[in-house]
Amino acid sequence: MKKLRVMALMDEELVPPDSMEGRPDEEILNWKTEYDVCQTLRELGHDLLKLGVSNDSGVIRKALVEWKPNIVFNLLEEFHGVAVYDQHVASYLELMKQPYTGCNPRGLMLAHDKVLCKQILHYHRIPTPQFVVYELGSKIVPPKKASYPLFVKSATEDASFGLSKKSIVQTPEELVERVQFFYDEVKTDALVEEYIEGREFYVGVLGNRRAQILPIWELLMTKLPEGEPNIATAKVKWDYQHQKELGVKTEEAKDLPKELSTKIVRLSKRIYKALFMTGYARMDFRVTADDRIFALEANPNPNLSYGEDLAESAHAVGIEYNELIQQILNLGLRYRAAWRE
Ligand SMILES: Nc1ncnc2c1ncn2[C@@H]1O[C@H](COP(=O)(O)OP(=O)(O)O)[C@@H](O)[C@H]1O
Ligand SMILES: [Mg+2]
Repeated sequence: MKKLRVMALMDEELVPPDSMEGRPDEEILNWKTEYDVCQTLRELGHDLLKLGVSNDSGVIRKALVEWKPNIVFNLLEEFHGVAVYDQHVASYLELMKQPYTGCNPRGLMLAHDKVLCKQILHYHRIPTPQFVVYELGSKIVPPKKASYPLFVKSATEDASFGLSKKSIVQTPEELVERVQFFYDEVKTDALVEEYIEGREFYVGVLGNRRAQILPIWELLMTKLPEGEPNIATAKVKWDYQHQKELGVKTEEAKDLPKELSTKIVRLSKRIYKALFMTGYARMDFRVTADDRIFALEANPNPNLSYGEDLAESAHAVGIEYNELIQQILNLGLRYRAAWRE
């Protein structure tokens, strides 16, 4: 394996220390992905430069020009504090003719815009929950012909930002209140979807033109109180204590009829292609009791932490964590950016 100069690009506040020793869990949680990836890049024998950025593209340019990395490992999830601006950083890397890992700017843009993404999926006849959009600040008129419950989320934020039990609304009044919450607190357009009751699955994808689909992973809540919804709220994703209380875990999906799993795999491939994604991604689905599949969203550059869904599902087919990181580097090096043609 060739030794590479790898510049790990990440949020200024998430640059990990060299050791986890003595750090409390709550702190580690913040930069665990960055830590795991950097540690593994070193173990793989690559030269590593950790570069933290927040709002100055000059820092990136300077590092590219002076350090001349073979590849940038893109761990950035926002710029200027804006989640969807990560796509512009990927664009900037392309303008600098700099190979990088993960998704290309077009894929990032299409996937982050949940509304545009749903419109594209609809064109390809890929089932996604029916929806309406409320543009930030516009008058909130509940849809006339909707059957409740409905689900209110941000049209562009991820990581379940703003999602709680209150996201499930039962009446037009609750809908108005919740959309207003997104205007006021999350400050993005609100996306209102039909609420899909059922099991929740995640599917990892690796590849550029040809996508490799990893085993189907399921979100389980083994101690969910009777009648509570099994949704991945912000607390379910990020609060250890809450996870313990609900018995949250993810594992390879069991008891899936062959026909259903084949469909989910096929859909994952089609979504990856439809959104022009490259590198690696994770697709989110919900499936009803009568086996209707709905694509919730496509996540480019998903959580790469050791022990998280993507790494675990790769492990299940014999791709160890260090191989996964190396494969992601290889895919980044092989990606045919327009400037190479
Ligand atoms: N239409 C829906 N019906 C039921 N649950 C949903 C729906 N949309 C989202 N959810 C729940 O909210 C979680 C987060 O929504 P998602 O669209 O994946 O956004 P994020 O980018 O925050 O992960 C999902 O994992 C799922 O549990
Ligand atoms: Mg999601």
